[in-house]
Amino acid sequence: MLELMNVKKSYDNVTILNDINLEIEDGEIVSILGPSGCGKTTLLNLILGITDADSGKIIFNGKDLTHVPMEKRGFNIVFQDYALFPNLNVYQNITYGLRNKPNISTKNEVEDMIHLLGLEEHLHKRIDQLSGGQKQRVALARTMVMKPEILLLDEPLSALDGVIKESIKDRIKTIAKEFHLTTIIVTHDPEEALTLSDRVMIVNEGKIAQYGKPEEIIETPKDSFVKKFILNQLEIKKNNIYSLFASEHQAKVQTA
Ligand SMILES: Nc1ncnc2c1ncn2[C@@H]1O[C@H](COP(=O)(O)OP(=O)(O)O)[C@@H](O)[C@H]1O
Ligand SMILES: [Mg+2]
Repeated sequence: MLELMNVKKSYDNVTILNDINLEIEDGEIVSILGPSGCGKTTLLNLILGITDADSGKIIFNGKDLTHVPMEKRGFNIVFQDYALFPNLNVYQNITYGLRNKPNISTKNEVEDMIHLLGLEEHLHKRIDQLSGGQKQRVALARTMVMKPEILLLDEPLSALDGVIKESIKDRIKTIAKEFHLTTIIVTHDPEEALTLSDRVMIVNEGKIAQYGKPEEIIETPKDSFVKKFILNQLEIKKNNIYSLFASEHQAKVQTA
């Protein structure tokens, strides 16, 4: 279990995260959801160990990690921009982290991960020859072969759309469940959060506005922010879809 206790973080005297308390169970997929600039990436960076909290504690399986450096925490992140190496091919990118720690994954385990993410036919390609969804899969594979204790993903779907987005969503779910891997996903999109995760944490103005199962959040939004942010956005999407149908219908009527 991962616990954050009374975690605070400011930048230049501006409070970004104010007294964050949370628990994430082993194997759980949790989304951190909130508007742009609300501190989601900062929260991921604190968990990962890139950034230090001003106060509070980070505990993992009973062990205090608050002052443990990033490389000793055993967590791993897929950055928002994937951060793949353009001068290396797909296979070299996937196995990059193993150069210094070759015993973490066997050759078979690397091959299994390549297979699970459907990357066999792309292994010799350069990164700039890949689509967005393929890059995301390479970034996932590269992180997974390092066998992280917690998988952190910063906006993994925001550069993708339609069918590709759904397929990456499924792959993230498959990986998290198959490896019973605690997975924390940052997103600003309520639909992504609600359809991808076991629990959703909604952040507003440096605090957790609500933390619960998707159905709890939809059925009993805790405050007006949650209502507005989540339900309105979902409603807007629904209305857009309806109006799309309506205009298609109209177009049909007109051309008939
Ligand atoms: N290293 C930093 N130095 C100063 N301010 C920062 C730094 N990192 C983030 N911030 C500020 O903290 C706030 C939250 O940023 P961030 O965590 O990136 O938000 P989100 O990921 O939710 O969009 C923003 O106002 C951002 O400008
Ligand atoms: Mg961010």
